[in-house]
Amino acid sequence: MGSTSDLEVMSAAFDVLDRFRVPYEKKVISAHRAPALLAEYATTARDRGLDIIIAGAGGAAHLPGVTASMTTIPVIGVPISGKAFGGMDALLSMVQMPSGIPVATVSVNGAKNAALLAVSILSLSNPGLAAALKSFRDQQAENIKRTEI
Ligand code: RP5
Repeated sequence: MGSTSDLEVMSAAFDVLDRFRVPYEKKVISAHRAPALLAEYATTARDRGLDIIIAGAGGAAHLPGVTASMTTIPVIGVPISGKAFGGMDALLSMVQMPSGIPVATVSVNGAKNAALLAVSILSLSNPGLAAALKSFRDQQAENIKRTEI
C-alpha cells in the first residue's frame, strides 16, 4: 500500500488471506515518495517467489500501475477513497491503465475482493485452495438462503 493511512482499508485483504492461509507480506511503499524502493521491490518480486501483488493506493494512485510496469506477475489494484473525490480519482487512475500494462482493478476500497481474486488466481495451481474457495462460495450461498428479513 502507498501509505499507512491505507492500512485500515487494506486490512480486509489480510483477513481473507489469513482465512485461506495464504502467506503474504505487508509493505508500505509509496510510488512517489520512495520510487527507488518500489523499483527494487517490483523488479525482484518474481525471483523472490511472489505470485501476485495487491496494491492499494489513493489519490493519483500510481502505485499499482508503476508496480505492474516493473514486474510480469499479476497486479491487483485497490483504489482507496480519499478526502477529495471519494475514491473516484484512484479508481480512474487504476482502471484506465493504458494498454500494454494491465492492472486488475477492483471496486473503491474493495480490498476483500482483491484478496478473493488473488486466491482464485492462486487456486489454478493449488487444488486445496480451489476446494477452500468453493467451500467459501457455498457458505456464502447458504448464508443468503438462510437470511430472514
Ligand atoms: C497515496 O496517497 C496513498 O496510497 C494514500 O491513499 C494517499 C494519502 O497518503 P497519506 O498522505 O495519508 O500518506 O499515496
